[in-house]
Amino acid sequence: MAATLHYTELGLVNTQKMFQEAMAGQYAVPAYNFNNMEQLQGIITGCAQTRSPVILQVSGSARKYANASFLPHMAAGAVQMAKEMGQPIPIALHLDHGDTFDLAKACIESGFSSVMLDGSHHAFEDNIKLTRQVVEYAHSQDVTVEGELGVLAGIEDEVVSDVSHYTKPEEVEEFVENTGVDSLAISIGTSHGAYKFKLKEGEEVPPLRFDILDEIGRRLPDFPIVLHGASSVTPQHVAMINQFGGQMESAVGIPEEQLRRAAKSSVCKINIDSDGRLAMTAIIRKVFAENPAEFDPRKYLGPAREELIKMVTYKNENVLGSAGRI
Ligand code: G3H
Ligand code: 13P
Ligand code: ZN
Repeated sequence: MAATLHYTELGLVNTQKMFQEAMAGQYAVPAYNFNNMEQLQGIITGCAQTRSPVILQVSGSARKYANASFLPHMAAGAVQMAKEMGQPIPIALHLDHGDTFDLAKACIESGFSSVMLDGSHHAFEDNIKLTRQVVEYAHSQDVTVEGELGVLAGIEDEVVSDVSHYTKPEEVEEFVENTGVDSLAISIGTSHGAYKFKLKEGEEVPPLRFDILDEIGRRLPDFPIVLHGASSVTPQHVAMINQFGGQMESAVGIPEEQLRRAAKSSVCKINIDSDGRLAMTAIIRKVFAENPAEFDPRKYLGPAREELIKMVTYKNENVLGSAGRI
């Protein structure tokens, strides 16, 4: 049984102040997924150098991969590393797509400062019930909670959905009021993974449903909204992967200008996982293609970490608008 740790003992913060400031400043806080040391160091270095707050997020399966006891101490190491860079930034550790009360509670007890309860695959009333149960426990520990209404297409941990169901704006007030969540993830046309749209020859990526986002913003004034599935599936990285032996021909993501527009609205948190995976994979493939005899992990994970720093820097400065906010 793992020791109980409160996130403040690890130097972490919850998302409350981050979101208030993002709402007032019309930008979005980046939520980057990680499951290993190089990803974590790349994210923290990029965010500290650009003076951006950051939400480090971990799915249930990523938590298993990295080890549940080990993981919060990695986050504490990240806090210390940012301080030693002379750039102490607000850092939250967040459970991504938590699906049960027990998982959310275990994360909170091990040092997470924020949790998501994704009840979006349940009936509306059941989603409210489960989310409220998590909110009651989380708030007793000063931990913030993200809920979700509407279903994204793609893969969320073990849950796969072929079709998306946009969030119904007429449901959001009742959900937020009855659950007490601190932020709400919505479905307006984004989806998880590197293959977000099946486009025919000459077809363009369909625009996000800003009409739904605006209506939700009217119904929930000044309430933090979250966008999942917001990777742009960086074409340069996809091209590099394909150039060096990969097979990702039809990978496509959300255009940056649409994310920029969302970040200026009530969207306060933008989730990015796939783009980080692509950046690292592209460089690792290149290193191996050009140096087939290489077998020192530092020689390929090091350059992959450098590429992730560049990606985080670019996104914070040019897409989310979170750079220079600390
Ligand atoms: O939304 C899902 C995230 O990209 C996490 O993916 O379950 O493969 O860690 P994962
Ligand atoms: P992407 O697959 O678009 O990076 O989405 C990540 C995400 O939503 C994590 O919760
Ligand atoms: Zn997600």
